[in-house]
Amino acid sequence: MKISREMTELLSKQVNEELKSAYLYQGMAIWANDAKYVGLSGWMSHQAQEEMEHAQKLNAYILERGGATVLAAVPAPDKATWPSPLECMKDTYDHENKVTEAFYKLAEEAQAARDYTTLEFLQWFIKEQTEEEAQCAYWVDRYELAGDNKSAQLFVDGEIGRRQA
Ligand code: FEO
Repeated sequence: MKISREMTELLSKQVNEELKSAYLYQGMAIWANDAKYVGLSGWMSHQAQEEMEHAQKLNAYILERGGATVLAAVPAPDKATWPSPLECMKDTYDHENKVTEAFYKLAEEAQAARDYTTLEFLQWFIKEQTEEEAQCAYWVDRYELAGDNKSAQLFVDGEIGRRQA
């Protein structure tokens, strides 16, 4: 069954949100590089790339269901600098919690519209969000442990820079 116009619009908004996430994390990567936290910068670049893939996954799904994604402008992120890696990662964690909430709302809309195909499709993102939140919470804990100690911060920066996936 072809995807409805309403669901196409809702998923298109999420495409835009994923692109905004990519922009936010790219901004964080730029800040972290400038602040000499090269490990964090690499992690954020990787995160930005993943967000682009999420946008593309949503777009491909809309097209597969016979819809046409509606693209919208991607604004600049609200912030360009952070006081510390900890504050940067706390913002990332808060952001991912909001993304999770957005996917819950989308799932509710799909359920209400009896669009079970979209409901099933969204499960991938809901599962992915569990992983994203867990990762962010882990790094918030690590940066909190490091506190204001520069040596400890650099140690955590080395750890986070070894991200593989
Ligand atoms: Fe696309 Fe980080 O959620």
